[in-house]
Amino acid sequence: MSIQVSNINKFYGHNQVLHDVSFTCSTGDTLVLLGPSGAGKSSLLRVLNLLENATDGELTIADNMFDFSKPIAEQKGLALRRKVGMVFQQYNLWPHKTVIENLIEAPIKVLGIAKTIAKQQALDILTQLQLADKAEAWPLQLSGGQQQRVAIARALMMKPDVLLFDEPTAALDPEITSQIVTIIKDLSGTGITQVVVTHEVDFAKKIASHILYMENGRIVEHGSHASFTTPKTPQFAEYLNH
Ligand SMILES: Nc1ncnc2c1ncn2[C@@H]1O[C@H](COP(=O)(O)OP(=O)(O)O)[C@@H](O)[C@H]1O
Ligand SMILES: [Mg+2]
Repeated sequence: MSIQVSNINKFYGHNQVLHDVSFTCSTGDTLVLLGPSGAGKSSLLRVLNLLENATDGELTIADNMFDFSKPIAEQKGLALRRKVGMVFQQYNLWPHKTVIENLIEAPIKVLGIAKTIAKQQALDILTQLQLADKAEAWPLQLSGGQQQRVAIARALMMKPDVLLFDEPTAALDPEITSQIVTIIKDLSGTGITQVVVTHEVDFAKKIASHILYMENGRIVEHGSHASFTTPKTPQFAEYLNH
């Protein structure tokens, strides 16, 4: 099991945004989190790599276990982020660093990898993602789709066990979205576990091995890809219909 979430609650002040959330995700699955805006998808994703702490509940991810009812040591959070990568809607590349500098920063600083080795790994990953000719470019010289692929490349540099995506295609046009679909599918063939937040049903259908459908901070439906054709709940059926 790659991810196990047990009885997670999360509050922002008095506002409870996650209610008793529990689910599991097997190694190599591509789990898509679907649901209307405000459902708590991003909040849940951010809890999975401790960008946010839950109020209580337990999380096991990439062999790290956290009990949110107790204080979490910073070291444990750092250990988790070596194994769990994140790709954001807004790419979050460093604008004052070239593409390759964006890629090698964390492996050198966090993993202690030698610069020449990190650069070779970066070129390999850029080649894989058809970005080799952009290694020396600045992020702002690239299209949105290229920046998003660089953001994925940067996350892959850490060789994560789990890769989290928050609305990775929200700012991209359909043609570029299909490139992201291809990348996610290729990655799923390598055994990496992926969790993808989206509100785009067509995109979700193309990549999901499993789905988690949320409303108002609660899991409404958790199923395999078959849930798209035979939803188990009227709420998910309704969501798919509009
Ligand atoms: N940093 C924050 N501080 C306070 N409330 C927040 C914060 N982030 C999200 N929320 C609230 O949590 C709820 C769930 O938001 P979010 O997880 O972003 O949903 P989704 O990603 O499904 O659209 C919303 O009511 C939102 O206003
Ligand atoms: Mg969101």
